[in-house]
This record gives sequence, structure tokens and C-alpha cells, in this order.
Amino acid sequence: MTQDELKQAVARAAIDYVVDGEIVGVGTGSTANFFIDELGKIRDRIKGAVASSEATAARLKSHGIPVLDLNEVERMSVYIDGADEIDHGGAMIKGGGGALTREKIVASVADKFICIADESKLVDVLGKFPLPVEVIPMAGKSVARALAALGANPVLRMKDGQPYVTDNGCHILDAASLQIRDPKALEQQINQLAGVVSVGLFARQGAAVCLLGTATGVKTLAF
Ligand code: 5RP
Repeated sequence: MTQDELKQAVARAAIDYVVDGEIVGVGTGSTANFFIDELGKIRDRIKGAVASSEATAARLKSHGIPVLDLNEVERMSVYIDGADEIDHGGAMIKGGGGALTREKIVASVADKFICIADESKLVDVLGKFPLPVEVIPMAGKSVARALAALGANPVLRMKDGQPYVTDNGCHILDAASLQIRDPKALEQQINQLAGVVSVGLFARQGAAVCLLGTATGVKTLAF
């Protein structure tokens, strides 16, 4: 099976977690895109969705799925999204697609984070994938120095020769060379740096379930 086929398989499996008549929180990225395509097939069963990025909102709308502002929504049963890495405790690195802040906000309103990922994303120790940190642009250098003091090798994310700009008008530092043995503590530590909007560590509120696409089928990991 190709990686895309594994992503498609977990996206299909995630439909079982969607609650009829409710609003669904929807993530960003290639796996989330497969999920949106599946959600489009059952759009009459749900009230609508809250999107974690402009790209996700556009794709949801293209399927005729109503997109709600989070301020109109009090709770959701599930938030469904991919991850760049997930460990055996349900802690994740996210933000490879640049949507970490809105992903964290939408996920915080959901009862359960359902992670959908192919098996390459499951790791023993988080950190091989550079940890994305969204920063207010004027704090790029000061936060980079603070991340370096924590042992990371931070690099400003670029696009077309310019700093990458998030949906929130901010920049992203990708912090490489970390071996994250205590994800909850590091999440809290980086959150407290002045100028950090959010860090792509989802550990304090990690995944409740991971649907993992493997060559032998979709495995369900519950945390
Ligand atoms: C976007 C994310 C994505 O969930 C993460 O990058 C995984 O993406 P993909 O499903 O394309 O592998 O956090 O900000």
C-alpha cells in the first residue's frame, strides 16, 4: 500500500467517530484532506464543521459542508486531524502544514482528539521531525535564541524566498535536533517564551485515539 492509500484508509475509518447531528472539528494537511473528502460523502448527517485553517475551510466548502466560526460553537465531540509524529502516549508534533495554532484552538474545544496517521508517524521519542513554533514576527530572533538554549537548532521557515506567513500573520521557527522525552514539560516551557503564539507540541491535550494506517490494516491505539 502507498502512503496515500494508508492515509485514505484512516480517513475512512475516522468517519465512525463522527457523531450524527453534531459539529466536527477538522484538521489540516494531506491526511485531513482525505478525511474531508470522506466527510463530504456524509455531509447530510452533520450540522457542519469548524476548520483549523483557511485551506481546510475552502475544501470543506467545496464539498458543500457548512463551515462554522468557532465563536458560534460551544463544544464538539471530536476533532479529527493528522500529525507529523505521535508517540506511544498520544503526544504529537504538529504544524508541518503551518496550521498549529488554529489546530490547537479548535482541538481544545473538542472532547476527543482523533489522530489519523500512517504508520511512519509513530515514534518512540518525539523530535526527529523539527518542532514548529509559531511566533510574533518581531520575536523571531529572541525566541530562536531561547530555543537554542533548550538544545534545539531553530530555523525560520521560508516560502518563495520570504518568511512563511501563517493564517494568523505570524512566522514559524522549525526547531530541529530535539529529543523530546518530557513533551508536557517542554510544551509548557516553550509556551511561556515571550513572543510565542503556540508550539506544535500537543501533549498536555494529546490524542485520545490514533487510527494508524499499517500494511495489515487500520490499527486503533487508545490513550
Ligand atoms: C498541519 C499539521 C498536519 O496535521 C501534519 O503536518 C500532518 O500532515 P500530513 O497529513 O500532510 O502528513 O499539523 O499543520
